[in-house]
Amino acid sequence: MDHLLLPLRRLVLTALASLAMLLLSALLLTHAPPAALAAATQAPPAQSPVEPAVLAKAVVEMEQLDRMRIALASTLEGRSEEPTMDTMKEVCKPVGMKAAAIGEANGWQVRQVAAKYRNPDHAPANSQEREVIDLFHRQPAITGLWQPASAEQGAGVNYYRRINVEPSCLACHGTKASRPAFVKDNYPGDKAFDFKVGDLRGMYAVFIPEVPQARGTLQQTSG
Ligand code: HEC
Repeated sequence: MDHLLLPLRRLVLTALASLAMLLLSALLLTHAPPAALAAATQAPPAQSPVEPAVLAKAVVEMEQLDRMRIALASTLEGRSEEPTMDTMKEVCKPVGMKAAAIGEANGWQVRQVAAKYRNPDHAPANSQEREVIDLFHRQPAITGLWQPASAEQGAGVNYYRRINVEPSCLACHGTKASRPAFVKDNYPGDKAFDFKVGDLRGMYAVFIPEVPQARGTLQQTSG
C-alpha cells in the first residue's frame, strides 16, 4: 500500500484536488439520475467503508490514466501512415496495462469497461456495470460516480469514470471500414467502431475493497 507512505502533505493536497473535482462533477449534474443509482452520483459515499483520502486517490489516478490515453492517441495525429501493431502498443494496450498496474499497486481492481468493446475482456461484467454505462450514455454531464460494492465483491466501494471519444480516437474507433488492418486482424469480434467525437466510449471501473488496517494507519498518520 504505497499510498500510506506518501507524505501527509501530498495526501492532503491530493484529497483537496479530488474534492474540488468531485464538487465540480456534482455541479455538472443537470438531470436527476434514475432512482436505483441516485444516491451515489453526487459525491463520494457519506458512509464509505473506505478512507476519503483513498477515494480521492482513485479519482486522481483515473484522471491521470485518461490523460495518458489522450496524450498517447494525440501522438498519432498528423501521421500519414496507417497505425500498425507498433503504434497500437502506444495507445490503448498500455492504458489497459497501466490500469492493471494501478490496481496492483493500490490493492484495487481497475478495469476498462465498454458496451461496444474491442477486447472481449472489457465487456460489462454485471448488472451494476451495465446500469452505470447506460447512465453515462444517457447523461453526458455525469463524469464519475460511486456505487456500493456488490454482494459478490464484499466490503468496499466502486468508482466509475466515463471515457469520451476525442478526434484522435477516430483513427482506430472511427468507421468500420477505416479501422487499421491490425485491428481487423486481431479483433474479429470488434464492436468498438462507428464512434463520433463526444460519444461515450466506455468507462474505468475501480473496485476499492475495505482494508481495516489501512484505516487505522491513516488515522494515526493524520493525528
Ligand atoms: C492506434 C489505434 C487506437 C487509437 C488511436 C485509440 N484506440 Fe482505443 N483501442 C484500440 C485497441 C487495439 C483496443 C483494444 C486493446 C486491448 O486489447 O486491450 C482499444 C481499446 C480501447 C478501450 C477499452 C475497451 C475496449 O473496447 O476494449 C477504450 C475505452 C478505448 N480503446 C478508448 C479509446 C479512446 C478514448 C481513444 C482516443 C483518446 C482511443 N481509444 C484511441 C486502438 C486504438
